[in-house]
This record gives sequence, C-alpha cells and structure tokens, in this order.
Amino acid sequence: MTITTVAVIGAGTMGSGIAQSFAQAGFTVRLVDVSPQMLARARGSIEKSLTKFVEKGTLPAAEKDATLARLSAHTVMSDLSDVDYVVEAIVEDAEAKRALFRELDALTPPRTILASNTSSIPIASLAAVTGRPDRVLGMHFMNPVPLMVLVEIIRAAQTSDATMKVAFDLCKALGKVAVESADRPGFIANRVLMPMINEAIYAVDERVGTPEAIDQVMKLGMNHPMGPLTLADFIGLDVCLAILRVLRDGFNDAKYTPCPLLERMVAEGKLGRKSGEGFYKY
Ligand SMILES: NC(=O)c1ccc[n+]([C@@H]2O[C@H](COP(=O)([O-])OP(=O)(O)OC[C@H]3O[C@@H](n4cnc5c(N)ncnc54)[C@H](O)[C@@H]3O)[C@@H](O)[C@H]2O)c1
Repeated sequence: MTITTVAVIGAGTMGSGIAQSFAQAGFTVRLVDVSPQMLARARGSIEKSLTKFVEKGTLPAAEKDATLARLSAHTVMSDLSDVDYVVEAIVEDAEAKRALFRELDALTPPRTILASNTSSIPIASLAAVTGRPDRVLGMHFMNPVPLMVLVEIIRAAQTSDATMKVAFDLCKALGKVAVESADRPGFIANRVLMPMINEAIYAVDERVGTPEAIDQVMKLGMNHPMGPLTLADFIGLDVCLAILRVLRDGFNDAKYTPCPLLERMVAEGKLGRKSGEGFYKY
C-alpha cells in the first residue's frame, strides 16, 4: 500500500509536530482542527521549528518552503475522500475520540488506515466503533515530535499484520524508530515512565531530597538526559496525573496511585512549564 496523503486531526502540541514530520518527509498533509486559532498557531510553530532546523544546517533552506507547501489547514473534515492514512491527535477524551473515529470511518475510503496518538485510551475501543477494525492502530509519538525518534506502535486485538507493516514502513520514512507495544494501559512508555515520576514525587513529598537533588541523581547517576521532575514539568503535571489514574484504574492496582503531592499541585494549578510553575518556576 502506497501512502502519499496523510490527514492529521487535532492541531495542538502533538498534531502540529506530527503534521510537520510527515510534511518534512515528503507527504501531502491535511491538518484539521475545530479551532482556526489552533491551526494558525500550529502553522506558526511549524514555521519556527523549520527555521531552527535551517539555522542548525539540518534542513536545506528550500526544503522549508517545500515542506510548508505540502501542508494545508482545514476546519472541516469534508475533504478526506483521498487520504491514505489518518493520525488522530485530538483531546485525550475517550468519548470524543470514539465520535471522531465514527466520523472518520464514514468520511474516508474503506482502505484508509486510522491511527490514534492517544497516550492511554484502549485502541481496541476505537477500532470497535469503525467498520474497518483491522485498519485501526495506535501510533504514539513523543513530544516534541520533530526531535524525538521513538514511535510506539500499538497493536489492538483487531489490528492486521498488513496495517502494522504500513505503520512500521511509515515510521522509517519519517526517520523514526518504531517499537511495537500491546494494547495495555500506558503501553510501554508510560507504564515504565510514570511510576518512576510518581516515585520521584513521593521522594519530594517525604523530603528525601529537593527536586534539584533528585533530578541530579537520575541525570548523573543513571545517565538520564533529564531528571524525572524536570520531565514531569515538561509533560504537564495534569497529564501525568491523568495517566497514573489510567494505570491505576486499568490494572485495578493501587501501586499506581498518584502521590498526594501531585494531586495537590494540579489542584493548585501548578501544571509545570505550561502554567509557569511545577517542581520548578519558568
Ligand atoms: N502532549 C504530549 O506530550 C503527548 C504525548 C504523546 C501523546 N499525546 C496525546 O496526543 C493527543 C493530543 O495531545 P496534545 O497535547 O497535542 O493536545 P492539545 O490540547 O495541545 O491539542 C488538541 C487539539 O485537538 C483539537 N480538537 C479537539 N477536538 C477536536 C475534534 N473533534 N476535531 C478536531 N480537532 C479537535 C483542539 O482544538 C486542540 O487543538 C492526546 O490524545 C494526548 O494524550 C500527548
């Protein structure tokens, strides 16, 4: 199956990065969002990111304009009749995603593969609302997408081998490395990462060390490029809390219970980088 035209639904942090990566790799990209403001913001951040690549010498200047020319912005989903592949990156809300997958199933040709960038919603539950469950899978990009190499490819019970192969080939074309994960809560990345972040937050709460000390130990002692609390601030403390709840509820296991300090910080609006304060001030 040859993929030439890709639709990315949702033009937020992830959708804009995903659209940029596909356009940079030569695909024709339709970026769709309900909000014209988000589309305009996405265009601005893509231009800024491409300019940085040109300044660093990793992208020829002519490629910047060519990449932007391959990208179009849409507020309605009407024109998806010729797309080969869709990546959904709207809000992390199971009902909103299921409604969108129903709509995508009606608007795209039956051959089109539908991928979700969800961090936590079971892919099988999205596949089940479509008439093509074998062509639905998870494609979990990492933030910031243009810089991060990993993509987790999530195989739902219904996903076919042919669909998995298309996704793996696409990742290669994007210059990324795909790793397969089963459709279990948190997949691989968040299943392993979030308990570590939660434990680091417990260590702050119990005054085992300051945030700086905990991050230094993990950076210098474990060779992590970024400490867990810096990373939590970057991801967003509200997002960390939501993922921990998904793990706790999905496995029905108290070991994933979010640290009370994390609950308090989110309630106080300390969400990390995006709100100006988390474990650090920005
Ligand atoms: N932020 C991260 O670090 C990260 C990492 C991996 C995966 N994810 C996942 O990616 C998805 C998007 O996350 P984000 O951080 O980019 O969110 P975001 O809030 O930045 O963007 C979501 C966008 O979706 C749009 N939207 C909402 N409903 C829509 C609809 N029905 N149709 C079209 N557009 C719609 C919103 O207007 C918004 O622009 C989520 O599922 C999230 O769990 C996020």
